[in-house]
Amino acid sequence: MSEVEGVRALAEQLARAAGAVQRERYETELVVRTKTASIDLVTEVDHACEALIVGALHRERPRDAILAEEGGGEDRPGAEWRWVIDPLDGTMNYAHGYPRFCVSIGVQRGGAPCVGVVYDPLLDELFAATRGGGSTCNGRPLRVSDERELGRALLATGFAYDVHRSHEDNLNHFASFVKRVRGLRRDGSAALDLCYVAAGRFDGFWELKLHPWDVAAGNLIVEEAGGRTSDLSGRPPSGDGRETVASNGHLHEQMIAVLKS
Ligand code: IPD
Ligand code: CA
Ligand code: CA
Repeated sequence: MSEVEGVRALAEQLARAAGAVQRERYETELVVRTKTASIDLVTEVDHACEALIVGALHRERPRDAILAEEGGGEDRPGAEWRWVIDPLDGTMNYAHGYPRFCVSIGVQRGGAPCVGVVYDPLLDELFAATRGGGSTCNGRPLRVSDERELGRALLATGFAYDVHRSHEDNLNHFASFVKRVRGLRRDGSAALDLCYVAAGRFDGFWELKLHPWDVAAGNLIVEEAGGRTSDLSGRPPSGDGRETVASNGHLHEQMIAVLKS
């Protein structure tokens, strides 16, 4: 097994293990706290999943850098490998018992996305990609949709946790798209939204002010399924997630044009 294959196998194993914790604790009584805003939630399950993943990486890959949403990671400047982890993407859904959430693990090698794994524990769907090796869902190859008309597209988006107080609130873009597309979803898990673009379930997705852990796995899974990812101007994504556009490729320029209007 090559080192990349080993990293992917470990990412899959850890995503499944954290997903099992989410499944067990789903719809049980949770301690819910707030972070940057009254609508930015964190539960003990977010922390438990992060501790499980980061603890295993410390044992198995002690030289790798780790960026994890809840702060349990360790930056190691100069490390060849870097794990970018969202231990529970869709925390608000999780806290409300809405069944759309996942574990997201992206791995970079030499600063470039190399492996992406997203696991939805309720549907038992494991999305995965290796750079240059295509994307899969439970082992089946994924392919983006072939839709070329925005008027027939199903898109997804989301709103940042500062939506109550920021003027950069994505509502202008939301209004522009809702008048042009067949359907628009706000499903509450950016990592799954990206995987759904890869799977052809959504034709496109955009969101502002995301973070590296929201997109590290999903962007690679979209690209390896034949789709395109970019910032709001159509340039390659910077990796920080602040401007995220993903599509089947055919609709990308049309989406950028709407986002610029
Ligand atoms: C959030 C989800 C949501 C998106 C937010 C993210 P979290 O992540 O991905 O869909 O709209 O911007 O912060 O907080 O549940 O990990
Ligand atoms: Ca997230
Ligand atoms: Ca999270």
